[in-house]
Amino acid sequence: MRKVDQSCGKGLSGLGRASKDPLRREASVGETGTEDLCPGFPAMEKKKWILTVVLALIVAMLPLTFRILESHQVQRLYTGELTDMILGKLGGWASSNHDLSTDKALASKFIAPNLTACHPSYGRPDLLVHCCPPGFESPVPFVDFQFPDPQSPKRVRRPVQLVDENYIAKYNKALSIMKSLPYDDPRSFARQANLHCLFCTGAYDQQNSNTPLSIHRTWLFFPWHRMMIYFHERIIGSLIGDDTFAFPVWTWDIPEGMVMPDIYANMNLSFFHKVRDFSHFPPRVADLNYFEETNLSPQEQLDTNLAFMYNQMVSGAKKTELFMGCTYKANEGYCNSPGTVESAPHNTLHTWVGSNLEPGREDMGKFYSAARDPIFYAHHSNIDRLWEVWREIHKHELDIKDPDWLNSFFFFYDENLKLVKIKVRDVLDISKLGYSYEEVDRPWLNKRPTPSVPPKVARQILKSKENENQFRLSSDFGPHGRALDASLTVKVNRSKNHLTKREKGEEEVIVVHGIEVKGDAYAKFDVYVNMVDQTIISPKSREFAGTFAHIPGGGEMMKRKIDLKLGVSELLEDLEAMEDESIWVTLLPRTASCSSVTIEGVQIKYIK
Ligand SMILES: *[C@@H]1O[C@H](CO)[C@@H](O)[C@H](O)[C@H]1NC(C)=O
Ligand SMILES: *[C@@H]1O[C@H](CO)[C@@H](O)[C@H](O)[C@H]1NC(C)=O
Ligand SMILES: *[C@@H]1O[C@H](CO)[C@@H](O)[C@H](O)[C@H]1NC(C)=O
Repeated sequence: MRKVDQSCGKGLSGLGRASKDPLRREASVGETGTEDLCPGFPAMEKKKWILTVVLALIVAMLPLTFRILESHQVQRLYTGELTDMILGKLGGWASSNHDLSTDKALASKFIAPNLTACHPSYGRPDLLVHCCPPGFESPVPFVDFQFPDPQSPKRVRRPVQLVDENYIAKYNKALSIMKSLPYDDPRSFARQANLHCLFCTGAYDQQNSNTPLSIHRTWLFFPWHRMMIYFHERIIGSLIGDDTFAFPVWTWDIPEGMVMPDIYANMNLSFFHKVRDFSHFPPRVADLNYFEETNLSPQEQLDTNLAFMYNQMVSGAKKTELFMGCTYKANEGYCNSPGTVESAPHNTLHTWVGSNLEPGREDMGKFYSAARDPIFYAHHSNIDRLWEVWREIHKHELDIKDPDWLNSFFFFYDENLKLVKIKVRDVLDISKLGYSYEEVDRPWLNKRPTPSVPPKVARQILKSKENENQFRLSSDFGPHGRALDASLTVKVNRSKNHLTKREKGEEEVIVVHGIEVKGDAYAKFDVYVNMVDQTIISPKSREFAGTFAHIPGGGEMMKRKIDLKLGVSELLEDLEAMEDESIWVTLLPRTASCSSVTIEGVQIKYIK
């Protein structure tokens, strides 16, 4: 009945110690389940011990084995291989846990949740939330993911502004049914919404570890959300017996889609949600780089959005890590460095939709509550679509091949109420998943920004400002970092051989490192290069390098210091700065909360 997970044996990650977190101790009182998802694979220490004994026995029996063997050639071959193998293993063991990673067979560091290790988590620093499903303490039988039948009809996700009345009525009905299902039913809207809370606020521990799991600001961001909405879409379809049902897509990256879609703003439909910012209802043009209300005209906002998209999808996303986010592996700690699109428009639009009357701009503005708003699914369909667009732009050459990413896995209930174990590698071909996106224009592709001030003039002005000591140097951050209570300009040295490095296809990256958001508030700052006049710049100016947009909440590990990485090779070319020894980098606070943001430094790095 219950399947033994073959990959579990490799999960030697996260040798967790007892948690010191009082919250976790409280949570463990109710935990009676002792069954884990990897039966037959005891804890690391025990495993090492057993393997040592087995190997000792093998070594002891070697002479006997050789006598039994008849052929000397075979014997020699056998001895050599076996000895190598044994020495190899013992070598690995003799050293610290650390060195185990050099042993291929034992090195896997994929991420996976322990479903029976669920606990309350923080939705906001001041709000404890209980998102664990009923009965989580007892293990539930699961099945491995299987692709839908290739013969089954395709689901085509269309831009929401193109769907017709019939479709709206159909989805409206399905969503009403879903909302009326009891909480016991994992297909119910409330349980579906809580999936986001569970995996995004650190409610689950990782397998074989006491470390909580959280998928944001890491390379799991795109695949995890793809899984979540894949199952949600199929459940919606099954509730009305329609196996062609596909999500509407909120295509906020094209002019036609840059307002909150009408169906979500119509009080008579089940897509309506009242915990939102009503000043952002149609016809207000969405601000993809939102931090506060602006007085841009709709056309100006639209143009700014397109230039911003160019930066996030094209010039700032030329390397895998810059778009996908950092490599998050078991036993290595939470990495905490999001990709371009996750920071914005993803985070910024979550915040833009959420209510201005709620402390954390709930519901969309916080991880624990975001998926309670039906617009979440249309927003994430677009995020999912843009992942495909980015892969296509790079002809799939930047796709991640690391087995730890490919083998990371999660669990979701499907439309038949079966618990399914699904790996990242299962969701990399959307045609196999039975869905596609209707072709959408990419008007931002040719919106390469231009400098706000001619680069030569800018350099003169910046040099004279520097002579008047108006800038801080990059070494000035001090041991505890600098608070971002006001705009901060630092001169950053580039590598001496940057010219040759560039020829090797390396991307130059500004790293704003050691970012700490005290009090874990919503915080946003923008980053500009060689900026002269703060009042005339926007993402439409080539000086714009990117943004830090921080949605807080997600437990202890989400409070780790964050690194912001911004690819700037193309930008430096356009600012005619490729030959310069240094550049001026300006961090421009956009929220009052930036006064409680500290930064340890700004550096330039090169990514292959
Ligand atoms: C999962 O968590 C339960 C309860 O804390 C624990 O007993 C079990 O060993 C864990 N299993 C794995 C694979 O980590
Ligand atoms: C909602 O329904 C009411 C009553 O049937 C109707 O008067 C109103 O125009 C509808 N609103 C929209 C936005 O369709
Ligand atoms: C940057 O380079 C200049 C000139 O080579 C040097 O004087 C300065 O100390 C360097 N600054 C930093 C922060 O490394």
